[in-house]
Amino acid sequence: MITTALTRWFDLDAPVFGAPMAGVAGGALARAVSLGGGLGMIGVGADTDPDWVVEQGRLPAEADVSHGVGLMAWALERRPELLAAAIATEPVLVSVSFGDPGPYVGPLHDAGIAVATAVNSRADLDRALEAGADVIVAQGTEAGGHTGQRSTLPLLQEVLAATDRPVLAAGGIATGAGLAAVLVAGAAGGWLGTPFLASLEAANTPAIRARVRTASGDDTILTSAFDIAQELGWPARWPGRALVNEFTETWHGREDELRGDTAATAQVRRARTEGDLAHAPVYAGESVGLLTTERSATDVVRALVADAEKALQRAARLVR
Ligand SMILES: Cc1cc2nc3c(=O)[nH]c(=O)nc-3n(C[C@H](O)[C@H](O)[C@H](O)COP(=O)(O)O)c2cc1C
Repeated sequence: MITTALTRWFDLDAPVFGAPMAGVAGGALARAVSLGGGLGMIGVGADTDPDWVVEQGRLPAEADVSHGVGLMAWALERRPELLAAAIATEPVLVSVSFGDPGPYVGPLHDAGIAVATAVNSRADLDRALEAGADVIVAQGTEAGGHTGQRSTLPLLQEVLAATDRPVLAAGGIATGAGLAAVLVAGAAGGWLGTPFLASLEAANTPAIRARVRTASGDDTILTSAFDIAQELGWPARWPGRALVNEFTETWHGREDELRGDTAATAQVRRARTEGDLAHAPVYAGESVGLLTTERSATDVVRALVADAEKALQRAARLVR
């Protein structure tokens, strides 16, 4: 068993946090990750229904396992009711990322809930520490979904040098050896999204699970094209890492033309509803090439930890 400051804090068997992924990580995925010994997070998007959040929160509770909820700061500014919905699920951890977590730390602490926030730069870290976040997620640009421009390992090292608070590494971790690497670097665990994209419990579709299983790590792109087309209001500093498809081939790099193009907006919206993966976003990180089988997230966590233990033992033998 691997123990870290965060496995002890949240009473986990595995230093694996199932990242909140809007549209993918509902209560079923969070429950499966927690059943594997990690902590599963439910992902809440900018337009998520608060009742859905409450409903999904019941699934881990029914299996008697803990869960977390992941919120986005820029969305909370417009929809504060999402914070109340997250608190109502009685999570042990809430992440407030992509914006200033400051206004939400007090209410979450008052409810007895620990607060995490993802940082993408050194300046973000200063803001997170000032805000009083308990757990820092150092999210590298390798990550799937919305992210920043810094790479995981240098960002992680810089964050660890600057704070004693527990730090989770996010972006590109998809094997036991990868998990071991960030633990050796000093992280208190991994915050993993992409490795669960082909999990049976994911709330995406069988077609998306099949698509990510055949994708290579060379097939992702960090782009704002989908956000601009969908008029989602995502702040420009966080583009999203998605699989390259016909839409990104057409529009990435032509964002100014895309703004206000109603045909492109209709195309992406329709593609999402109809499951047209040539034009809909399939958010996935650079580790997507390592995903080959559709299996339970519980098994994914268990396999990761078993392999990480072996890698850590091998690493110890490097020292004479
Ligand atoms: C499909 C998808 C959706 C995501 N949605 C969210 C989200 O709603 N909130 C959030 O804080 N992070 C979100 N992320 C980012 C994850 O929290 C995490 O930082 C990332 O997945 C870690 O890197 P990895 O994908 O390489 O494992 C998402 C990632 C993916 C792949």
